[in-house]
Amino acid sequence: MSEHVKMIIEGKEYEFPVICGTEGEKAIDITSLRQKTGFITMDPGFANTGSCISSITFMNGEDGILRYRGIPVEQLAAHSTFKETAFLLINGELPSRKDLNRFSVLLNDHSLVHEDMQIFYQNFPRASHPMGILSSMVNALRSFYPALQTAEEEINIMVTRLLSKIRTMAAMSYKISLGHKVVYPRPDLSYCANFLNMMFDTPVRPYEIDEDLVKALSLFWILHADHEQNCSTSAVRVVGSGRVNLYASISAGIAALWGPLHGGANQKVIEMLEQIHSNGESIKKIVEMAKEKENPFRLMGFGHRVYKTYDPRAKIMKGMCHKVLKKFKAEDPLLDIAMELEEIALSDDYFVEKNLYPNIDFYSGIVLRAIGIPTNMFTVMFAIGRLPGWISQWRESVNDPEWRIARPRQIYVGPVKRDYVPIDER
Ligand code: SDX
Repeated sequence: MSEHVKMIIEGKEYEFPVICGTEGEKAIDITSLRQKTGFITMDPGFANTGSCISSITFMNGEDGILRYRGIPVEQLAAHSTFKETAFLLINGELPSRKDLNRFSVLLNDHSLVHEDMQIFYQNFPRASHPMGILSSMVNALRSFYPALQTAEEEINIMVTRLLSKIRTMAAMSYKISLGHKVVYPRPDLSYCANFLNMMFDTPVRPYEIDEDLVKALSLFWILHADHEQNCSTSAVRVVGSGRVNLYASISAGIAALWGPLHGGANQKVIEMLEQIHSNGESIKKIVEMAKEKENPFRLMGFGHRVYKTYDPRAKIMKGMCHKVLKKFKAEDPLLDIAMELEEIALSDDYFVEKNLYPNIDFYSGIVLRAIGIPTNMFTVMFAIGRLPGWISQWRESVNDPEWRIARPRQIYVGPVKRDYVPIDER
């Protein structure tokens, strides 16, 4: 295959190198385009634009493939833990037993949050959305934990500190929103069990750790751990390219994830299903509404920029719904509605022709409800899961010798040159 492509622009021929990835993906390297031709490219939403070369996550949207550092997500879901998957994403290899033990000790050592941070939490209005609180509090970590001496030590401690504290900070916002005492992390509990205990333990009803729920949470977070250059990861890389610290970059990622078209969709899916359930809305009507061009309503949890087939994570998540509900011999009417909605949509030409399938957010809310997570914390759960991915992508950009500040160009279509007019002459 040729190492170059040719372009003819205004009658002149130009050659540009081709970059080929380990999975056969190809890109035209246009880093010299403007300097050679005076032209830039235009690609709103960057659907056809590569922002970086990465060795972290591989996705194939046509075949529904997702691999972290080469390992299929299905295998990690079946055999790994969230802590081990986080280590894999951040360090590039699965940990040895020794590595994992050391990682556990570090996560435990950094699990507490500075007591003064509670004052910040106390002063947010009680109805504040936990994603806004989380984004603010993660950014505030720099104030409480200033830079360390050496760059390497700084990055290693910052990474572990953030991975560990994000759980404590998320649970704190929930407890304080209830007016309850904050529950502290415990050294004897695993990463996921600690989070559940911090969320649900109370002096009058001690939380009983259920290993099946701990496993469901670990699997939930494995499925969310990374997803190459999605909106929030791109935000982390773009903000990080200005050479800000990790906390500020991750805070920007949390803000981007909050959007209903991105991570906020998991909350919107449940609200959509609850609306159908409580108002007795017709599912067929909801599907028809989602197809109306002039109607801004979208079938939440459906469609994806990359996956043009079933999101592999949604398949696993759907199986988890049945497993977790079966465990408690529970029924969730929203699951039945979701499955009927999926069946109707996937037999409708509109969705089939546009390759719109359930994405990770379509079933994830059912699992979170079964675990007992409140709906307004659903996107926070996505953020905790995605943190290892954001961290690994930030570190990859920091270590990239080609790392430059992100600064896209534009095509200007505003008024041409004109003079200032004094106010009395306007
Ligand atoms: C996540 O990027 C990632 O990897 C994200 C994520 C991750 O792990 O980081 O996977 C997590 O964000 C999953 C997506 C969660 N969002 C939703 O479920 C919200 C509903 N979905 C849509 O808003 C939409 O599908 C997006 C935002 C997910 C993708 O948007 P695109 O790629 O910009 O596609 P588009 O809006 O241009 O849609 C193409 C066509 C349009 O119709 P036409 O203009 O061509 O006639 O499909 C239609 C859209 O109207 N369409 C939908 C639809 N999604 C797309 N129509 C109805 N319902 C939908 N959900």
